[in-house]
Amino acid sequence: MSVLPSTHPAASLCGGSPAPVVRTRALHVVPEARTLPSVVGAGLRVPTLHGETAYANLDHAASTPALETVKAAVDRALETYSSVHRGAGFASRLTSAWYEQARAEVAAFVGAREGDAVIFTRTTTDSWALLSKALPSRTTVFVFGTEHHSTLLPWGRFRTVRLPVPQTVEDAHALLEEALADHPSRHRLVVVAAASNVTGEVWPIERFATLAHEHGARIAVDAAQLSAHRPIDLAAWDADYVAFSGHKTYAPYGVGVLAGRSDWLDAGNPYLLGGGATRSVTEDGTTWATGPARHEGGSPNVIGAIALAAACSTISRHREAIEEHETRLLERLRAGLEGVAGVEVLSIFGDDSDRVGVVAFTIDGWDSSLVSQVLSVEHGIGVRDGKFCAHLLIDELLEDPWGERSSTAVRASIGLGSTLEGVERLVAAVATLVEHGTDADWTLTESGWALEGTDPRDVEVERPW
Ligand SMILES: Cc1ncc(COP(=O)(O)O)c(C=O)c1O
Repeated sequence: MSVLPSTHPAASLCGGSPAPVVRTRALHVVPEARTLPSVVGAGLRVPTLHGETAYANLDHAASTPALETVKAAVDRALETYSSVHRGAGFASRLTSAWYEQARAEVAAFVGAREGDAVIFTRTTTDSWALLSKALPSRTTVFVFGTEHHSTLLPWGRFRTVRLPVPQTVEDAHALLEEALADHPSRHRLVVVAAASNVTGEVWPIERFATLAHEHGARIAVDAAQLSAHRPIDLAAWDADYVAFSGHKTYAPYGVGVLAGRSDWLDAGNPYLLGGGATRSVTEDGTTWATGPARHEGGSPNVIGAIALAAACSTISRHREAIEEHETRLLERLRAGLEGVAGVEVLSIFGDDSDRVGVVAFTIDGWDSSLVSQVLSVEHGIGVRDGKFCAHLLIDELLEDPWGERSSTAVRASIGLGSTLEGVERLVAAVATLVEHGTDADWTLTESGWALEGTDPRDVEVERPW
């Protein structure tokens, strides 16, 4: 492949050389759709109360491990690492070219249209913070109570119309339709997650995009829980913006993405003021760049961008195998948990909803934070417990007028670092807990549940640096 990177204003503005023209080619050319890509650390063994065991990683919704291809791409890029859009040396030209090629790879991954901007950020949270600052003044934002806090909160209290947690997709559609009709305004933005970080349920984005556009509103899609599992497609969805995070997409190198319509982004306030974001600076004032540079002030995270591009490329090539693997594990996980007395799997829209591999559950009579500690210490399983930065949703799903139910849940989430054995181990561990209780003695202390005796995880491990 030969790609000529687009021009970047930073090149001439920070005293650097013109945009680089470097011929490069893709590393992989053979599609390998049927094989499962491997992750770094797949063989990790962890200490438990009963000795060392293989780590059962069921916590991908929080952060995924890195793909081997991502690590290899980063290692290679480090060999010639240099400044981006700021140098005339060969290494700088190559690094700059790769940065723009990474943008093109991500653009393809999200189904960006001609003219859409692809901006590298730090995380989904960062992407929404950027978009919220770039919105035209007095934009009204519509957001459901189902959302993760990073998607619920950044828009400002007074211009946000918060919709209740819906019970069905139809309900969600009706609630949004009514709210759009009730709140006319020149600029409006609907924000919705493509997949819930609590229940894994997938929202029909095309339907909500059509509804938003019928009312003259735009739609921004939180794909943080979708990016590693299902295709993102701005064009096919007819959605206006999408955001996702590298650390949830097998590229944990401090990178995120905001992609979509460039008009608001080009007119809005630059996100990070400084080198690279300017067109000209004089005593009389500053003219800001347009395009991604406007919001990417400072030296870019090129290693993050390359890591993410490698992840996008690998995921796209192995899409079929990834979906097959995750569907198999998810079916087993749900069936197994639902077969244990006292376990309740949480759901917004009901049992038959389409889902990615995220399952939140409660166990009657058991504190979720104790359950996750027991799973780790007694069984070598990694899950998360709590409210998952989605307090409104969890409070609604666990509402209990008598206050007898847990106010938090346990979340198991699947990805390329998960195995069928790990899922079986979780199901067996939950069943054992319900039937026989814990193996060890646990006490609730001020800082949470603690083992009576030594915690096997308190081993000395050499620092990586
Ligand atoms: C649905 C959803 N949106 C947004 C976020 C925020 O992502 P980040 O922490 O990468 O900013 C998360 C993180 O868990 C999430 O699950």
